[in-house]
Amino acid sequence: MGTLQGQVALVTGASSGIGRAIATALAAEGVQVVAGARRAERLAELVAETGGAVTAVDLDVTDRSSVTRAVETAVGDHGRLDILVNNAGLMITAPVMRADLDDWERMVRTNLLGSMYMAHASLPHLLESRGTLVQVSSTSGRVASPTASAYAASKFGIGAFAEALRLEVTAQGVRVVVVEPGFTATELTDHAVDAESRELAAQLARAIRTLTPEDIARAAVFAVGQPRHVSVGEILVRPSDLAA
Ligand SMILES: NC(=O)c1ccc[n+]([C@@H]2O[C@H](COP(=O)([O-])OP(=O)(O)OC[C@H]3O[C@@H](n4cnc5c(N)ncnc54)[C@H](OP(=O)(O)O)[C@@H]3O)[C@@H](O)[C@H]2O)c1
Repeated sequence: MGTLQGQVALVTGASSGIGRAIATALAAEGVQVVAGARRAERLAELVAETGGAVTAVDLDVTDRSSVTRAVETAVGDHGRLDILVNNAGLMITAPVMRADLDDWERMVRTNLLGSMYMAHASLPHLLESRGTLVQVSSTSGRVASPTASAYAASKFGIGAFAEALRLEVTAQGVRVVVVEPGFTATELTDHAVDAESRELAAQLARAIRTLTPEDIARAAVFAVGQPRHVSVGEILVRPSDLAA
């Protein structure tokens, strides 16, 4: 494995779940982590737990000036940016006929446009460091399912954007990794406004061994820790109790 010691990472959506676990795991590998999200108090807990290896930055990925400020803060504080983990996201489920269009807009603005803004603002620095962009997508970025139409659309979009970006920047030494988690126990399903979907998720969580945020963090660290000549393009991680 390549060494991550001394590298600088910016992790979006680091205040809970998968982003928090990735920030913690990278910090344990000696990476200087800048953790971005909106809930400052949750970021402060992470900073306190990780003792100096993680700093917090206020970040709303839907706001272009907030995105620019967060990237400038990371680079201003540490002089470089080696890893961007584009993880911030939300999932609001509902059948198309009952969907709230504001929810659709929020999901596309956060999951898809937000990660595109982050990639655009970080790219000059990743080109300079010959760094790595990790994009957290989902199994819903590969297979769509009922009630998750807009969520899947945002995640399919992420996959398309990441692939085009990978083709553009590979020759310049930047690696693009797409991580696709299956059902992971986090706060994500708390946002599901559709009671039926929330109940289905709760039933599933009782019936199977779900993934943990740390399972996904191991996959992300594996990808970024590879030697420079190895590009791990895509990692699909499913709970082994679930075939689909
Ligand atoms: N859990 C799963 O089963 C699963 C499966 C596949 C993929 N994923 C993906 O994993 C990623 C992380 O989700 P999670 O499961 O860890 O859920 P989570 O615990 O709800 O975490 C979501 C994170 O995104 C952040 N976020 C949301 N909107 C934001 C915004 N506008 N600006 C900045 N940060 C924002 C939240 O922070 P603040 O609210 O503090 O801003 C939070 O830190 C998402 O992209 C999700 O689609 C999850």
